[in-house]
Amino acid sequence: MLEWKTNEALAVGKGATLQQFFATVGRDQLEMEIAPWGEGQLKVNGREITRINDAKNRRQAFRSIQQIAERYVETHMNKAAAPMLPAVKAKLLEGKKGLIVGIANDKSIAWGCAKAFRAFGAEVAVTYLNEKAKKFVEPLARALEAPIFMPLDVSVAGQMEAVFERITKEWGKLDYLVHSIAFSPKEALQGRVVDVSREGFATTMDVSCWTFIRMAHLAEPLMRKGGSLFTMSYYGSQMVVKNYNIMGVAKAALECTVRYLAAELGPKGIRVHAISPGPLATRAASGIPEFDALLEKAKAQAPARSLVSIDDVGVATAFLAHDAARLITGETLYVDGGYHIMD
Ligand SMILES: NC(=O)c1ccc[n+]([C@@H]2O[C@H](COP(=O)([O-])OP(=O)(O)OC[C@H]3O[C@@H](n4cnc5c(N)ncnc54)[C@H](O)[C@@H]3O)[C@@H](O)[C@H]2O)c1
Repeated sequence: MLEWKTNEALAVGKGATLQQFFATVGRDQLEMEIAPWGEGQLKVNGREITRINDAKNRRQAFRSIQQIAERYVETHMNKAAAPMLPAVKAKLLEGKKGLIVGIANDKSIAWGCAKAFRAFGAEVAVTYLNEKAKKFVEPLARALEAPIFMPLDVSVAGQMEAVFERITKEWGKLDYLVHSIAFSPKEALQGRVVDVSREGFATTMDVSCWTFIRMAHLAEPLMRKGGSLFTMSYYGSQMVVKNYNIMGVAKAALECTVRYLAAELGPKGIRVHAISPGPLATRAASGIPEFDALLEKAKAQAPARSLVSIDDVGVATAFLAHDAARLITGETLYVDGGYHIMD
């Protein structure tokens, strides 16, 4: 139960207009603003989470926002619960073995995917970028009971091959792969597309697109009975999104790659998809200037009026790996609350 404290500086009682309440969870600060005519707003660390305007009065508005806040803390901020996975797994993906590349921390989209695959009964192999990243990824790999946990920096020659060799030795097969990595040097990402250097372009395309092709190449012989390959894209591949710049070009190439790979590997029962999530506040996203504005716009304009979570992305990805989705391939699936259908 959250403990709410009032803002003593503001007038309270009958004549007062707005009331503010604060609660803290670890280092996070929740703030509630309640108006006597039944409006209420919830902010977490200064960012609006929700707003209501249909409560009968101040008291009801307070109660509604309080309930929303409790639920929000439980689902988004409960750090102790975050790495927890159900002890009893669903059987939807039982027996399937997959590789998940791109977990940097518990905010990563790849972590949302890994949790979903594992909760549905699949086994998960996990990689980490380097020694520095290892300490953040290791507890997550443990929570996933990952039998394979290896370093993988795609710019280091041989590391990708080493991961697939280990999978071959340990599992002898692969059912799914989640490629959830992207990189662009700061000067390339934050500059205009028209100014991008050859080197900046090549690195962006190499890490963000070619590595998916190479992973598909290495996965193909392990998917003798079919399988599914996933990569993460973004709407900036289709539309000019402010500040997305050269990454939009790379994502366009990535989505096109998905279609060619789907066509080439389809006869072997290997399906290929891009997942296109709405904006999520991850480490990679912190390299994009004015990202908060993107989040606000997404929330305000998406038909669902909600930001997506890494769990939303994970579950949608896991669904596509299920045999029930056997005739769906080559897609770019938006998990964005419907944002992409709006003009
Ligand atoms: N966050 C968003 O709003 C958003 C939206 C749509 C798509 N995406 C895409 O989702 C994917 C995952 O990003 P995220 O948002 O979870 O951020 P993240 O920072 O958690 O994940 C990015 C991952 O890329 C990895 N990576 C970077 N360079 C690498 C290299 N040389 N070798 C191996 N791994 C490397 C990092 O280690 C990290 O694990 C990216 O493709 C990103 O473009 C993100």
